[in-house]
Amino acid sequence: MKRIGVLTSGGDTPGMNCAIRSVFKTGVAMGMQVMGIYHGYKGLIEGKVDYLTHESVENKMHKGGTILRTARSSAFMTEEGINKAISVIKAYGIEGIVVIGGDGSFRGCMELANRGVPTIGIPGTIDNDMGYTDFTIGFDTAVNNVTNEIYKIRDTMRAHDRVGVIEVMGRNCGDIALWAGIGGAADLILVPEVDISWEEAANRLAQNKLRGKLTSIVMIAEGAGKAEEFVEFVRQHTDVEIKATVLGYIQRGGNPSAFDRVLAARLGQRAVELLNDEKGGRAVGIRHNSIYDVSLSKAIEMRDEFDKKLFELNEIMAKF
Ligand code: F6P
Repeated sequence: MKRIGVLTSGGDTPGMNCAIRSVFKTGVAMGMQVMGIYHGYKGLIEGKVDYLTHESVENKMHKGGTILRTARSSAFMTEEGINKAISVIKAYGIEGIVVIGGDGSFRGCMELANRGVPTIGIPGTIDNDMGYTDFTIGFDTAVNNVTNEIYKIRDTMRAHDRVGVIEVMGRNCGDIALWAGIGGAADLILVPEVDISWEEAANRLAQNKLRGKLTSIVMIAEGAGKAEEFVEFVRQHTDVEIKATVLGYIQRGGNPSAFDRVLAARLGQRAVELLNDEKGGRAVGIRHNSIYDVSLSKAIEMRDEFDKKLFELNEIMAKF
């Protein structure tokens, strides 16, 4: 292949710029021209395409967000939108496309692959909710961001003998709550994958108070409910003093961790190697620290397995 394109789609993640840089550099090393497609699939439909240069990717890898911008495009999911995108791809002479995003973005990637455009998906989402890969780009940074915030919240909760409830992102996946909860020594983690009723949770906090533990940190994944509603519930059923914090977009921005930078670089390289071998319709991922690839359909289909053992470890550490 002589000319490939790269786009970022869906929620941005720290590390996307490192993946773009890797796609560009490895592509150039293989004698390719690399085009940036701006604003995800929306920009592809609208023809927002331009050559990437050394200047456009230089000194960007430490920055969060995405230099290519991103979007969630409903237009692309229509026959008309996809056909428009294909005509833009042909007009620019783009022979293969790398898509960096989550499972919604991978579905778009497969639509193109099914119509004969060689496409490769790179997993980029803070949620870590893609079953075929151990880690997605941005998850490690989000976990570090959240862990740092937990300690700030813990300081002020302790000063007032309060319980702090911290709501984090993750859509239907509890991984950010779980990993940051362990990193931040949380006393209780509420995730959609594990059934702990709010009655039981409130009861545990009341018991903590009875045994003299006045400050606790509760992590609640957005998929398990809203922090404000949980706090209201606990207030109605106990005499625990409790406050809610919704971390929001603070967890999705900022410098990517070294882990995410290296992961992004490795995945970007494999994506370009596959296109160079004329292989499309594949997703690249990491399993047991090795980069590998699977078909896009398998990558989309594989359900994410929640790490119950890790969850139980936190239950033990919170109890004793
Ligand atoms: O998928 C990434 C994510 O940050 C989720 O954790 C969150 O539910 C969602 O995106 C927020 O989406 P938006 O950026 O559209 O508010």
